[in-house]
Amino acid sequence: MSNAALSDGGRDTVLSVRGAGKFFPGVKALQDVDFDLKRGEIHALLGENGAGKSTLIKVITGVHPRDAGAVMLDGIEIHPQHPGDAQGLGISTVYQEVNLVPTLSVAENLMLERQTRKFGLISWKKTEADAKAALETLGLDIDVNRPLGSYSVAIQQLVAIARAVALDAQVLILDEPTASLDGDEIQTLFRIMRDLRDKGLGIVFVTHFLDQVYAVTDRITVLRNGRLVGTFVTRDLPQIDLINHMLGRELAEVSAHRHQDEGSYAGPKRTIQVKNLGKKRVLEPVSLDLNAGEIVGLAGLLGSGRTELSELIFGSQKADSGLVFLDGEPVMLRSPRHAIRSGFGLCPEDRKQDGIVAEL
Ligand SMILES: Nc1ncnc2c1ncn2[C@@H]1O[C@H](COP(=O)(O)OP(=O)(O)OP(=O)(O)O)[C@@H](O)[C@H]1O
Ligand SMILES: [Mg+2]
Repeated sequence: MSNAALSDGGRDTVLSVRGAGKFFPGVKALQDVDFDLKRGEIHALLGENGAGKSTLIKVITGVHPRDAGAVMLDGIEIHPQHPGDAQGLGISTVYQEVNLVPTLSVAENLMLERQTRKFGLISWKKTEADAKAALETLGLDIDVNRPLGSYSVAIQQLVAIARAVALDAQVLILDEPTASLDGDEIQTLFRIMRDLRDKGLGIVFVTHFLDQVYAVTDRITVLRNGRLVGTFVTRDLPQIDLINHMLGRELAEVSAHRHQDEGSYAGPKRTIQVKNLGKKRVLEPVSLDLNAGEIVGLAGLLGSGRTELSELIFGSQKADSGLVFLDGEPVMLRSPRHAIRSGFGLCPEDRKQDGIVAEL
């Protein structure tokens, strides 16, 4: 164990990782990573796609056996073999994809595998009361007898957190929990995170939204290419420095790089023009041009019509004004089928709900 791990006598630190390594064929996903989580802090784990954030979490929780290093909980080395082991030790993880059973009721999901038994039988009254109590600690008042799947992703996420916390967690790991939540739902999640932090939990928060990092976290650990860049106090780290740590190069270099990319595109020179595409009460007419080899960002506040514009272009919502031109020719995109035939693809916001047919 290094000196850093011993420096606070381990009293503040609930979870500590030393020299963690994980190798996949051809990929050093994690190399010599140290990480300390204190009791009563929200700690952001940041890095570009593929930096090793999820791998670090999986090494901590026993999804992957580690190839090097040590994980200590309360100063004692642990070797969880699977997430259930880690949960038993007090480390609970909630992923972006809720891992509960949508057809069971909220109460059943909350109490899964630990239903209250009375004379050897499951006591539903007690299960229901326990479930209600667990949600009330998070300030959630919902009907626990309804199927979990009948609630929004946000509520399902919060139920997953309630379940994690009810299992006497000391450490709560949230891997991109906000990806499909709206503004109000994120605020509710943050309120709950702060409450739990104030009760002494250590919370690891993975997100790609830097404004959320500054809104809710106390410290930040940055990974890059599987290696530790550093751990910082959030309020002392300007956002521009954070971005530079994540990218490992100055932003100026990045924009220079981008211009070079545009010039190097060698594919077919196709163009898409959207002209006055709109729909009453949904979207005011919008026009935009898209050239081959180009990525165009649609920015705007929640509810400003970003999703609606993509659905109108793709034909999953019917436009009542405007046209889409492909290489200068108007194309009829009256349904997703037409759009796909013309070579369009749509990756929707909730991919699990709208992007696939899960039963097939
Ligand atoms: N099961 C696996 N088999 C092979 N390679 C993997 C596996 N899991 C992750 N990797 C690789 O390890 C590296 C780190 O991946 P990881 O999923 O930890 O990144 P991440 O920081 O969580 O990224 P993201 O922000 O996209 O979730 C990547 O290069 C990834 O391709
Ligand atoms: Mg990840």
